[in-house]
Amino acid sequence: MTLVSYDPAARLWLLSTAGSSYAIRLDEDDVLRQVHWGRPLTLEQALTAAAVPAAAPGSSFDGITGEEYPAEGGARFGLPSLQLRHADGSRGVHWQYLGHGIETGAAAPEASPAVGEEGTRPCELTIRFRDRHYPLELDLHYRLRPSSEVLERRAVLRHTESESEPWGEPVRLLRMDAACWTLPPLPDYRLSHVTGGWSSEGRLRRTSIPVAETVLTSRRGITSHQANPWLMLDDGSATEDSGEVWSTALAWSGSWRITVQRAPEGVVSCTGGSGHEGLVVRLLPGDSWETPVFAGQYAQDGFGGASRAWHRHIADHVLPRAAELRPVLYNSWEATGFRVSEQNQLQLAAKAAELGVELFVMDDGWFGARRDDTAGLGDWTPSAEAFPDGLGPLVAEVRRLGMRFGLWVEPEMVNPDSDLYREHPDWVLRQPHRERSTLRNQLVLDLARPEVAAWAHARLDALVSEYAVNYLKWDMNRPFTDAGRPGHPDPDRLWFDHVHAVHALMARLRSDHPGLRIEACAGGGGRVDLGVLAHADSAWTSDNTDALDRIGIQHGYSQLYPARTMSAWVTDSPNPLTGRSLPLAFRFHVAMAGALGIGGDLRSWTEAELRQAADLVARYKRIRPVVQQGAQYRHRNAVQHVLGEESVLIAWQLPVPHGVPIPPLRLAALDPAARYRDQETGRLHEGALLLARGLDVRLDLGLTGDFSSTVVHLRREGG
Ligand code: GLA
Repeated sequence: MTLVSYDPAARLWLLSTAGSSYAIRLDEDDVLRQVHWGRPLTLEQALTAAAVPAAAPGSSFDGITGEEYPAEGGARFGLPSLQLRHADGSRGVHWQYLGHGIETGAAAPEASPAVGEEGTRPCELTIRFRDRHYPLELDLHYRLRPSSEVLERRAVLRHTESESEPWGEPVRLLRMDAACWTLPPLPDYRLSHVTGGWSSEGRLRRTSIPVAETVLTSRRGITSHQANPWLMLDDGSATEDSGEVWSTALAWSGSWRITVQRAPEGVVSCTGGSGHEGLVVRLLPGDSWETPVFAGQYAQDGFGGASRAWHRHIADHVLPRAAELRPVLYNSWEATGFRVSEQNQLQLAAKAAELGVELFVMDDGWFGARRDDTAGLGDWTPSAEAFPDGLGPLVAEVRRLGMRFGLWVEPEMVNPDSDLYREHPDWVLRQPHRERSTLRNQLVLDLARPEVAAWAHARLDALVSEYAVNYLKWDMNRPFTDAGRPGHPDPDRLWFDHVHAVHALMARLRSDHPGLRIEACAGGGGRVDLGVLAHADSAWTSDNTDALDRIGIQHGYSQLYPARTMSAWVTDSPNPLTGRSLPLAFRFHVAMAGALGIGGDLRSWTEAELRQAADLVARYKRIRPVVQQGAQYRHRNAVQHVLGEESVLIAWQLPVPHGVPIPPLRLAALDPAARYRDQETGRLHEGALLLARGLDVRLDLGLTGDFSSTVVHLRREGG
């Protein structure tokens, strides 16, 4: 398949995936416009589409619309993707086309080795411009791969003169988005996205788009719990299984902004990139500025189809080790809180090993003077009180029990009551003449400063080396405030440089310690995005471990991110956050839809509960390849994964008033001509009936009461 075709006469590029086409062309005045984003087209068809002249402005009050990368300048009145001010006070740009290049097999912009088998070599189109007067160049990049539906876009701006030349002064970059995506004309437009907060991430919202500018953003220095940098757009009629869906996602783990514009004349577009409004950076002569990737994708098979295409893309081209099965882990946080000790961790480890846990992770509280959240952050040496002989004895015992060992860290933070802060009070983000406001009694380290990054690397590297740590749960428990760098000529850069520093630190640790795995966490799901997932194996989905709440949180998470990255623990009942009591099987089944972990205080579980838990862990291990690596189909009160000949259905029953009929659960993606055997009961099902009629929730699935739940593991007969 030709991924990128070019027609020199029409100056038109056609970018093709298996299921979509994206066409752009240069106008006579060198303005780049989108011609098509949707169903697959041939080059000829795209040329025909491009031949339709753009509507002429109706009056002197109309401006230029529908541009591929709108920049401030001229008669442009929409929100620009690029805004800047030159040293002489002039604003904006006036581009001249310089040329283009098409490169096959180009390396990924971030250190994310593609799973990279035959036929997955990326192809990258670069379209180059320069300003007609000022020393500025812009490259627009488009990367696509034969095995993915996702088109990755980013932009690079260069200040091309040296300091000695006449314009050798900084350009002020007021806004530089990665890309602007324009939708085709549709009868109406609807936006799907997630909102939430701490412990309530991932609430899916579907709303009609107003004729206005709708801003999705984080101004917190992290991706945020409140919004996540992706969106889906449709005409209001798409469903889980059908209809056209256009979606975009930003690969960035700091502040960000995506603005959806629905112009009065009807055009809908979304421009997005790193940083929130008001941040200004200086681009010095010889410098360049590269945006993160703002990727897009078109699906014809509804929201479920769009999600599956993102899942595949993330697995094949974003995650560092997608093919590896995620271990069943134990985490100590809800059991022992900050009060970890060698003794209580040994007790938990012994119980966890009996359940079949493969990785034991000791959470917060193991270091420095950390006995609560007021002290010790930054002092990454084992607490002498909790671990008189260091971590060695615990680590040795965890390994003797056959488990790997993991540790919680929060490398970007410091408590003012810590040795690190007493030694380096100037290492934190702060503004001159302003208070340093603590949140959770902690301040943010300015990790973009080389000496701070070097310190963080040295401490983490020493820890990982000394204890052969297999896993870091990398936390970040407060947003940025008072973010500045006294005396620095370009202080807003820290919002961007911090993110690069975190990604670089993760990448360096991983490459120096090939056995190390990372769980991305920010007070739960506060930093989950395509940027961090290039350096992490999983993400801590939410601090809310109540299985009922988790159903909604996981539903929101699954819109973009694959199950193998979704860390999900089974904890105690009643749940410590919500006080809700739920059956053990229900808590397990909900967590088994992701990367299963256990986070309860196993010392208080009864023998019967421990036995049931061990059975459920064993069950999970049998279905794990299908859940973690299969294609996911969301159903009402169930989620189904399909991999090759196997399919796993996890279903649950929520309270329903008496007399309200419960429809059967119709499965997806099975072969209607095949039969499927239930691996647990031996019962044989007709594929055609599973698809057409479905399983009766009471009779077939045995779901008879509130919070009853089940797992059905089917294998195709003769397969
Ligand atoms: C955050 C994490 C929790 C736990 C605590 C420890 O809130 O999300 O899982 O690690 O920090 O302080």
